[in-house]
Formats: sequence, C-alpha cells, structure tokens
Amino acid sequence: KEIKIFSPATIANISCGFDVLGLALEAVGDEMVIRKTSEKGIKITKLTGQDLPTETLQNVAGVAGLALLAESNYDGGFEIEIYKKIKAGSGIGSSAASAAGAVWAMNELLDRPFSNLQLVKFAMEGERLASGVAHADNVAPALFGGFTLVRSYSPLDIIKVPTPPELYATVIHPQIEVKTSDSRRILKTNISLEDGIKQWGNVGGLIAGLYTNDYELIGRSLVDHIVEPIRSILIPGFDKVKEDALDAGALGCGISGSGPSIFALSKGEEIARSVASAMKKVYQKIGVDYDVHVSKIN
Ligand code: HSE
Repeated sequence: KEIKIFSPATIANISCGFDVLGLALEAVGDEMVIRKTSEKGIKITKLTGQDLPTETLQNVAGVAGLALLAESNYDGGFEIEIYKKIKAGSGIGSSAASAAGAVWAMNELLDRPFSNLQLVKFAMEGERLASGVAHADNVAPALFGGFTLVRSYSPLDIIKVPTPPELYATVIHPQIEVKTSDSRRILKTNISLEDGIKQWGNVGGLIAGLYTNDYELIGRSLVDHIVEPIRSILIPGFDKVKEDALDAGALGCGISGSGPSIFALSKGEEIARSVASAMKKVYQKIGVDYDVHVSKIN
C-alpha cells in the first residue's frame, strides 16, 4: 500500500505572531510517496531536489515518522520518497513540509488512528531536529490547511482560523540561505512590557480581522515590533521590498518565518500580482536572484 501526496509550503509568524501564527500556501510544496513495509522502522529511500541527509535520524521526515511509530501499535514500517520543491533555508517551511507530509500520509495508510493535533506533535519532532526548537507554526498549517494559531504549546492547542475569500499571499525568496537555528540565535530572549502590549494588540487585531473579513484591520495588524527589526538585517533589500510592496497595494508585508523569504498579504489576486512585480524589481535592481509565488489562502 502506498500514497502520493503534496505537502504545502507555509508562512510562519505572519509578522506579529512569532511561533504562534502560520498559513499554508497553495502554489508551492513538496511531493512525497509513502509506502508501508513489513520491515520495522522508517527508511528514506529517495530524496531529490535538495542536498539533505537521508539517514533516518538525521532527516526531519524520518524523526517525525519515528515519533508516530512510537505511539502506534502498527508493527511494520514505512519507506519514504521525498521530491523537494521547497528550498531548504528559504523561510517557507521546507522542513515542516517534509515532516508534516510524512506523518499525514502514514496516518492515512494506517486508517487514521491519530488526530491532526497528534500529527502536529509528531511533526514538531522534525522541527526540533531542523532548528533546535520544536515550534509548531509551520507544521500546524501544513497539517490543518489554511491559517492556524498555536494558542498554547503546553498543552498543545491549535485553532484553525477562517480567512476572508479574497486573501492572497505573495512570497519572494531572495536566493540566499538563512538557517532557522542561526536566525533564532540572534533574537533577544526577553521583551519589554511596552513591546508586548503592541504585539499582542496586533495578534488580537489580526485574528479579529480574519474572522470578520476586515481587510483594513488585517493590514494594520501586520506589524512586528520584536523580531523583524533584528532579523531584517540578514535580508538584502528588505526595507525597500516592504516599502514597494505596500506602495503596490499590499495590506501588509514582513519576513516569512525565519527568512530570507518576504511575504505580503493582499486583497485580490490582481493586487497580489502587482505586489509580486514590485518586489521582483527590487531584486532585479540590486542583482539578487529570486523566486516569487502568489497563492490564494484557504
Ligand atoms: N517561528 C519560527 C521562527 C518559524 O521564526 O523561528 C521558522 O520557520
């Protein structure tokens, strides 16, 4: 028995929600084939598209799969083929797509003994391997689809949040690699009460805007006072890309996950495409290669 799946790229943080907010992209993702085997354990039998380890304990899909097997009474194993379309270190949840895709497919092949919430827990083990921290803001939207909020890590509590019908994401990836572990290390571990107040005001505003289809409110809530000022230094052209995206009509713009990808949210596909052109021009001018995508958010 085998299954072939598409596992989506994701944008984490969404400006104000470091480690708690995330959304799934329709246009970009990895393909995977997962197969049941009588041999116990997990084997990565094929990995194309990126230079990543295939040793089970070094591979995010491998360790996520082992976390699932440890809680399952299935006595066989799985083989995994991974066809990476998402670049590692691009900031759109490359590790999350592999980890989430693997456990989702295994659960299907076992006739769904686990809930989505349990699958998130297993996939978080992949994130722990990739970045040193088991954050859930990429694996949650990859598994639930759409927009998700990690309301709490302990106990794990994930809320799927509805999105307005015309919400689109534009994502540009300047071709430099930023490791999540590195871009987490440069963050401060304490924040001021003053910054906290601004940040949770925006998280609440963003969630309220998503529930009430209030695009203006979504736009003015897409602000990050804590992480963006530090991490944006690692991203060439960040300020100009953001400025031009907003001028082209984006509701808001910020760093996708730990970067270097930059995302913008827009009302309607036409604006999202103009935002893509505006972002592209910045990198053409400064001579940095890029990939750009527009996705509807569901
Ligand atoms: N919340 C994580 C971070 C996402 O910003 O480090 C990494 O994709």
